[in-house]
Amino acid sequence: MAFPMKELEVHNDLLDDHEAMEKQFREEGYLFFRGVLDPDAVEAVREKYFSILVEDYGVVDPGQDLPVWNGKDVSEFPIKVPEAYGSGTWEKFTSNPKIHAFFERVMGEPISWVPSTEYRLNPPAPEDPEDWVAGRHQDGFFNEGIPFRTCWVPFTDIDAECGGLTIAPGLNKLGYLHDRGAPPKYGIPADAIKESDWARPEAYHPGDVLIFGEDTPHAGLVNRSKVFRLSMDIRFSAKSDPQPVVGELSAFGAGWITIDTAGGPVTLTVDDRSYLRLKDGAQLPVSEMEQFLQVGERMMAGRDGDRALVVRPQKG
Ligand SMILES: [Fe+2]
Repeated sequence: MAFPMKELEVHNDLLDDHEAMEKQFREEGYLFFRGVLDPDAVEAVREKYFSILVEDYGVVDPGQDLPVWNGKDVSEFPIKVPEAYGSGTWEKFTSNPKIHAFFERVMGEPISWVPSTEYRLNPPAPEDPEDWVAGRHQDGFFNEGIPFRTCWVPFTDIDAECGGLTIAPGLNKLGYLHDRGAPPKYGIPADAIKESDWARPEAYHPGDVLIFGEDTPHAGLVNRSKVFRLSMDIRFSAKSDPQPVVGELSAFGAGWITIDTAGGPVTLTVDDRSYLRLKDGAQLPVSEMEQFLQVGERMMAGRDGDRALVVRPQKG
């Protein structure tokens, strides 16, 4: 288990006070709600995850309440489970009127869902990591021009041993902590965030959601339990916020791309300041862009006028 962490506050009592919610979000960079998500919508995702673990991979035995690992080799278990991506699971979850209405209530105005979802089915790890908060990052650093709030949604009971999301409340006010002099991934230096800054609840439960901002440092703690850790992260923004350019890549050349969006084709210029995230999150030089792009691929871009700020594949 990781080092002891501060307990997160629960904000259910702020749900009827939008101004207080916004103040909490601005000041501390997060909102944490217990038992607020529609149980049927949560159960549908949980069932999908269980079917992947039981039927597709055979790493959990049938008929279990908890996704207890049955001991079958998981050394090759994929980080991004292909059976989840493209399955329509997050689209179905967020289009549930009760789920959508909850997040609109939090935002206080109509929202859009940003097509940037991660499905996480994390097997138990064989040993403790050297650095428990390795991979610490702020989502906004890699998504310039695409405003959003990230929602981390658990689908099993997730205690400290099972790991999962930890955030550094209040450090959102320090701006980006990423090292701009350390390409291609620009990681946050380990000493930029003290151990005493990290927080998580004693346990997450299905129905809970932790919403955090683009500037909120966070990391995923290794799973040292005997069960799979099941969660999903989904992202929304206010409809009134600048929206990303989303669609199919239809053409590209040296220094430009065209994405066919629902509203028609959009051509953006790409230059050395554009953050190209076309493989593992590392920034690619523009000169290599054409090697990694494929016509027909689903893409998303943040823009400043006709210039791309970030170019990346759509996820989920
Ligand atoms: Fe993140």
